[in-house]
Amino acid sequence: MARILITSALPYINGVKHMGNLAGSMLPADVYARAMRLMGHEVLYICATDEHGTPAELAAQDAGMDVAAYCEAMHQAQKDAGANFKLSYDYFGRSSAPSNHALTQHFANVLEEKGLIEERTSQQVYSNADGRYLPDRYVEGTCPNCDFEKARGDQCDNCGKLLDPVDLIDPYSAVSGSKDVEIRDTNHLYLKQSELSNRLRDWVNATKGWPVLASSIALKWLDEGLRDRSITRDLKWGIPVTDASGQPRAGFDDKVFYVWFDAPIEYIAATQDWAAETGGDWENWWRTDKGADDVTYVQFMGKDNVAFHTLSFPTTLIGSGEPWKLVDQLKAFNWVTWYGGKFSTSQKRGVFMDQAIDIAPSDCWRWHLMANAPESADAAFTWEEFQSSVNSDLANVLGNFVNRITKYTASKFDGKVPETGEAGEAEAWIISELQTRIPDLIRYYETREFRKAMAETRAIWAAGNEYLTQAAPWTHYKTDVEQAAIGVRTGLNLAALFGIIAQPIIPDAADKILDALNIPQENRTWNFGDKASIAGLIDALPRGLEVSAPDVLFTKIETDDIENWTSLYGGGT
Ligand code: 2FM
Ligand code: ZN
Repeated sequence: MARILITSALPYINGVKHMGNLAGSMLPADVYARAMRLMGHEVLYICATDEHGTPAELAAQDAGMDVAAYCEAMHQAQKDAGANFKLSYDYFGRSSAPSNHALTQHFANVLEEKGLIEERTSQQVYSNADGRYLPDRYVEGTCPNCDFEKARGDQCDNCGKLLDPVDLIDPYSAVSGSKDVEIRDTNHLYLKQSELSNRLRDWVNATKGWPVLASSIALKWLDEGLRDRSITRDLKWGIPVTDASGQPRAGFDDKVFYVWFDAPIEYIAATQDWAAETGGDWENWWRTDKGADDVTYVQFMGKDNVAFHTLSFPTTLIGSGEPWKLVDQLKAFNWVTWYGGKFSTSQKRGVFMDQAIDIAPSDCWRWHLMANAPESADAAFTWEEFQSSVNSDLANVLGNFVNRITKYTASKFDGKVPETGEAGEAEAWIISELQTRIPDLIRYYETREFRKAMAETRAIWAAGNEYLTQAAPWTHYKTDVEQAAIGVRTGLNLAALFGIIAQPIIPDAADKILDALNIPQENRTWNFGDKASIAGLIDALPRGLEVSAPDVLFTKIETDDIENWTSLYGGGT
């Protein structure tokens, strides 16, 4: 049994997330967490809302709300959305929590003691009309790289380049639209990442099994020369900058830590809050001197987050000189697009988590998004493919199988697992299928190859259908009840197995299946064992056990539904 710490990138607080955000970090982390728990590992899955920085302040301003009240409301909304999608966080924290204030200030102070933080004078955009500095997204203008006219100060949405606000051409304030801005000198704290380049490179080179998407991004940044970065901003909302004695740092009254400095620290702080709430031991997960050296730490994120997780956050942890647990495995995702384009709230393109749950049950989304996970390239969402995932994979392949076999048991075998009937050729065939496919499925989960894991799951369900065609109990029943009985008994056992392997992906439907088959909780785990015990899976249910047919598992999506959703949320037409 391993101890696995899982974090998914913290969703920004600025609104309920769209389906692409869900698919690119939180959902795969959840599926992985569920699979690892079923395999008997000790799992701690931590996430939180990322509540600081200009995205939070600007969204609160748009909503006409005080930023603290806005964050509180949106944290709850995101927590509810996560619960609706059955995200099985062990803890869903807030980066604005007192624990994160304390820990972020702690890191800044130790890094300064180690000589890795330095106060430097830098140039910032100042708005005369607003009477304030305009960091990051508070300033917009023309991108110096691609001439896009609405580039944000921190990044151009058109060409993706990371920017410094002072580089924008024709800058204007995102607060008031005023062009009356100037460049002023002001002091900020800089983290001297460049001094740690060699240690980071050694560490990245020594890590094993990072996917190419992750290690190539990290090494590219290192090759280009890691730049020291400013870890404070001219903002009011955020974590105040303090000195070693905990007092406000002189000259930093109107400044706070940069959101990307404090956000990953929240992974640890949220674990502290989890411990406080549950009596758990957070150090045992995060301090290598307190037992965390046997933890495997796995992070999930979108590709734009990779540099922050492979370089910036490790700089904080390694630079502190303290025994913190570093990431072992990273799973980075490309984007889910909306018919090949971007999700856009303002242009009514794309579906957000709170809307999605009114469109279809969470299982349908979970299955479709994982079966089409943007692993090796971006993946386009379309209503048509969503329909096909639900109708063909879930309703036809899985739903029909379970329905057919349980209903037939009720009508011909008194609703009980048949006690008689000898295994023959068809049973030998399905056993050999399972003996190859189940170990493959486990391996795909262990290596976090989600598309392959989903394809294998579907292939196992499809093999069950093929088995029933071969065994054809409904045909045999008329002439040879014993022959029908073995088909039904094997079919019921397969239905149980299908529910068991469905649990990480479609937990609600899996529960319905397993409840209908009267499978006790302790028998829902993944102890598949060797070939011999896999063979035993087709005769695992107690003979004579009463079973029932579950309620409708999946409702098919009709063409009318697609037309309706297209008009509401956009689509191909
Ligand atoms: O890109 C994002 O959505 C960020 N909010 C992710 C933060 S992850 C972390 F390190 F906290
Ligand atoms: Zn650009």
